Amino acid sequence: MTADEGGKIFLRPLDESDAAALFEAVASSRSRLKRRMAWVGSIRSEGDCREFIRSSFARNRDRAALVEGIFERRTRNLAGVAALTRMSVADGRAKMSLWIRQERVGMGLAVDAGRRILKTAFLKEGLQRVYARIEPSNRAARRILQKLGFNYEGCLRREKKLNGRWVDQECWGLLKSELKK
Ligand SMILES: CC(C)(COP(=O)(O)OP(=O)(O)OC[C@H]1O[C@@H](n2cnc3c(N)ncnc32)[C@H](O)[C@@H]1OP(=O)(O)O)[C@@H](O)C(=O)NCCC(=O)NCCS
Repeated sequence: MTADEGGKIFLRPLDESDAAALFEAVASSRSRLKRRMAWVGSIRSEGDCREFIRSSFARNRDRAALVEGIFERRTRNLAGVAALTRMSVADGRAKMSLWIRQERVGMGLAVDAGRRILKTAFLKEGLQRVYARIEPSNRAARRILQKLGFNYEGCLRREKKLNGRWVDQECWGLLKSELKK
């Protein structure tokens, strides 16, 4: 947990009492999130969120992932989720992804959350490399990665199918030695 660093937000692992807030955040942002993230269609109820939180808890415990809620410090409301997935402490790497609920975009929350989870990745988990995959059309995500210090590493063409369309995936990576102070 990174609750003591000041700023607009803090991160903490989700627990089952967050399921209603998580469902509400996904539901209110569904059409925008669905464009970018494959899992959105599978979240149809608060129960689905509870299940996601349970599985995140298990993956966090096993250090196979680090999934944390992004909470606004002032209201303590859930603004989004930051995650390191496909994490391997042995191989020293993980994939970063982030989303922010519709009404809270454009306030710098994603960059702030990214900085915090990257610090945890490199300084606490001891990872050497964090990578991200984004669609070339996702200009906001590209801007965030640039602000976090990630480097562009190339583009995988027609890498995956997202909501019925084949999409390219830009590869971005950040090494421990490149972490911005
Ligand atoms: C991408 C996303 C996380 C951004 O969240 P956010 O809290 O609005 O991001 P921030 O406010 O921290 O920063 C956004 C930056 O992108 C810029 N930006 C936003 N939309 C943009 C666009 N269409 N073109 C170019 N830049 C854009 C903003 O100006 C800001 O940069 P600045 O601070 O230099 O002005 C949010 O839109 C989201 O949840 N999208 C859906 C999920 C997703 O695409 N996740 C990324 C996968 S890693």
